[in-house]
Amino acid sequence: MEFRFASRMTQVKSSVVRDILKLTQGNDIVSFAGGLPAEELFPVQAVREAADRAISAGTSALQYGLTEGYLPLREQLCVRMAQKGMNVQPEEMIITTGSQQAISLLVQVLTEPGDTVLVERPTYLACLQVFELHGLKVVAAESDEHGMIPEDVERLVREHKPKFIYAVPTFGNPTGNVWSLERRQEILRICAGHQVPIIEDDPYGELKYDENAAYPTLFALDQQQFGSGVVIYTSTFSKIVAPALRTGWAIGDTQVIKMLAKAKQAADLQSSTMDQQILSQLLAHFPLDEHIRIISESYGDRMREMQSLIKAQKIEGLHWIEPKGGMFLWVELPEGLDAEALLRVAVSKGVAFVPGIAFYAYDPKRNTARLNFTHNKGEKTVLGVARLAEAIREFTARS
Ligand SMILES: Cc1ncc(COP(=O)(O)O)c(C=O)c1O
Repeated sequence: MEFRFASRMTQVKSSVVRDILKLTQGNDIVSFAGGLPAEELFPVQAVREAADRAISAGTSALQYGLTEGYLPLREQLCVRMAQKGMNVQPEEMIITTGSQQAISLLVQVLTEPGDTVLVERPTYLACLQVFELHGLKVVAAESDEHGMIPEDVERLVREHKPKFIYAVPTFGNPTGNVWSLERRQEILRICAGHQVPIIEDDPYGELKYDENAAYPTLFALDQQQFGSGVVIYTSTFSKIVAPALRTGWAIGDTQVIKMLAKAKQAADLQSSTMDQQILSQLLAHFPLDEHIRIISESYGDRMREMQSLIKAQKIEGLHWIEPKGGMFLWVELPEGLDAEALLRVAVSKGVAFVPGIAFYAYDPKRNTARLNFTHNKGEKTVLGVARLAEAIREFTARS
């Protein structure tokens, strides 16, 4: 059978990370590629108990539920959001199948093929996949360690009139960077002034290595200082509980939430009732904030471990900014080194990472790479960094 696939599929590249994950499966490869949480820190016992409670509470955990999501879970999330300075009601929230679905549904309800969207440079690679799938033009604003550069955002907004801005302001993927307060305010001012919605994707915001550090969300800042309603916020349980529960949420103006619910009906009717009820029971009976403190502390240790191992290798021309949270180290390799070509050598040595090119809509900085430090620790990280250093040395000696 010769299938006639939709032309939009020819635009979509397969996820580099997922391809690398496939390549590394079953082999003795240390993978710094995937954005995987530490499995040994999953709250297994608490999830088991929560699942027991959900099932014991009656049969509703196995039944269809509301497209907008299980109401008790939305109410509990509203309480959590209030602790972050975000004042929201359950009708301003929709539960999604991971925050990835929130991004995908937002694209469906806000854009037509050919529309422009504005992103950070570099940005989350799976959002680029969604944009490609929907035939969007992606424009990237210059960004540094303090966030998107406001002057560039303003210029591009005037020039391209994007349908929305997509950003990860706290512990971004891939860079790990945190936007400064000034940048957050500047970007909000631009969005409010030009009436451009901004999708604030926040899967990592709670994974702070300094538990006293405070990074107000764009959503909270907008509510407190601007009241413009331009921010659509999304987050997920993937990094703070477990990704397999595939539960995220989006918050925004009720007009947006209603549209998202319509699109979600067409996509999957609803997210898993069982998973939502497990999470609701978990929030009721498990000290999630304490758990988040434990994983964040461990991730901070793992980051420092990887950083000192790389430093000890004394590779000339290797730079990075120490992340204050999240799951990634974004490294700049020696000038002129192509990380994609390096990956082939690295995999042959038994280590994998994601070449930076995957995170650029265009004009990639080829000498960049994203290293995940949360999935491995100890001996594995030692081995992986040693192999990576060997690959870089061999590669630079050859070219
Ligand atoms: C920036 C960003 N957004 C969204 C997601 C999707 O997360 P999930 O669909 O598991 O909630 C990820 C996952 O790695 C991510 O890094």
